[in-house]
Amino acid sequence: MARIAQGRPVPDIVTELPGPKARTHIAFDEVWTSPSLPRAYPIVPVRGDGLTVEDIDGNLFLDFAAGIAVTSTGHAHPAVVDAIRRQAGELIHFSASDFYLPIYPEVCRRLAESAPIAGGRARTYLGNSGTEVVEASIKLARFATGRPYVVAFLGAFHGRTYGSMSLTASKAKYHAGFGPLLPGVFHAPFGRVEDLRWFDEVLFERLAPASEVAAIIVEPVQGEGGYIVPEDGFLEGLRALCDRHGILLIADEIQSGAGRTGKMWAVEHWGVKPDIVLTAKGIASGMPLGGMIARADLLESWTAGAHGSTYGGNPVACAAALATIDLLEAGLMDNARIRGEQALEGLRPLLSRHRGLVRDVRGLGLMLGVEFDTPDHAEEVQWAAFQRGLLVLECGRQAVRMAPPLVVSESEMATALRLFAEAVADVAGPAEREVREEAEAAGALTGVEAAG
Ligand SMILES: Cc1ncc(COP(=O)(O)O)c(C=O)c1O
Repeated sequence: MARIAQGRPVPDIVTELPGPKARTHIAFDEVWTSPSLPRAYPIVPVRGDGLTVEDIDGNLFLDFAAGIAVTSTGHAHPAVVDAIRRQAGELIHFSASDFYLPIYPEVCRRLAESAPIAGGRARTYLGNSGTEVVEASIKLARFATGRPYVVAFLGAFHGRTYGSMSLTASKAKYHAGFGPLLPGVFHAPFGRVEDLRWFDEVLFERLAPASEVAAIIVEPVQGEGGYIVPEDGFLEGLRALCDRHGILLIADEIQSGAGRTGKMWAVEHWGVKPDIVLTAKGIASGMPLGGMIARADLLESWTAGAHGSTYGGNPVACAAALATIDLLEAGLMDNARIRGEQALEGLRPLLSRHRGLVRDVRGLGLMLGVEFDTPDHAEEVQWAAFQRGLLVLECGRQAVRMAPPLVVSESEMATALRLFAEAVADVAGPAEREVREEAEAAGALTGVEAAG
């Protein structure tokens, strides 16, 4: 039971949504903040504990979005809060770029020891966010190989700064108005083993020689692109292709890592060892931290000044990361796997219950995606879940993702599955009636099929 719930059930919605204070706050926000922030729905959170979030009006929500797959240990895990408090009381900042912080190499070591890096010996660079370590990896790949080109995948999301935005190919809106982008970037089809033929047949044959490709960057499970799990053999094939041509394989585990799929790094599901693994989001439970874990010989090609950051690897974020990694290793990864299986079992019946509306149910651990027939229906399900107090988040063209904190309990998962099914049923009412009416008008369905 969440401390902040004080005996109330979770979720517990006590006002209309958004509530009166939320509406006032949103009006204030809209005057002063950048309109570029896309805001999925109007929640104004003020407190969190585990999976429970209280908003400004006193409504309690069940959080299956985790601040975009970030709060891996739940909101305000006592061990993480203690670590942050302790470190903040001792030293908040000194800059690891120019000086030696005791806690910084400790995080580097824990990450390097945990990641399956090709060749074994690894070192780590720390930044403040996902996009920063993506940028670092582009610089390192070009520098260490002396080659210009980088390949990413259609559907990928790697961030919003110039290099990472240029690699991103999930939605054209991320590029709109910002060209020209970083030169030397190609995009390959993602996910099926047969897609790998594109490299030999298109890229190396028509666009760029393999000997000039520095790196291929891949999300082992695509996140923002729709929670898409690649076919078995895809990542193994990429590794083999990279080995054949001396290309570096970069795994962007910013969303799929930190235990979320049931293993510390998603590539471990396929036994693949990248040359570089990128982490951020869940690795520090919500404190801003990014990590680039790389083959030691690659990082050792850099000399002093090649890369750095004033704040990267800030001691307070590092303290949160160490506490987080301890918790992940002490059982949260196993919980992610078990609760992920519970979720898939609970979500799959939606496919037959709402044929036509629900097109796919997929996932690995606690990266769970439900694909709908249209973007509007995905958005309506997200909204209907919000109205019931369940926080989920759209992704891809027309999918909704569930990415709860890894501390999710069996009963919290059961509650979320029930509320999600109700939200889908809400949308299915009118949506299924529409499909039935259209099909009946076209004479395509019998009475029995139309009722399904
Ligand atoms: C796979 C992946 N890479 C990179 C990023 C960018 O991370 P950040 O928002 O911390 O810059 C994200 C963020 O959603 C992501 O999901």
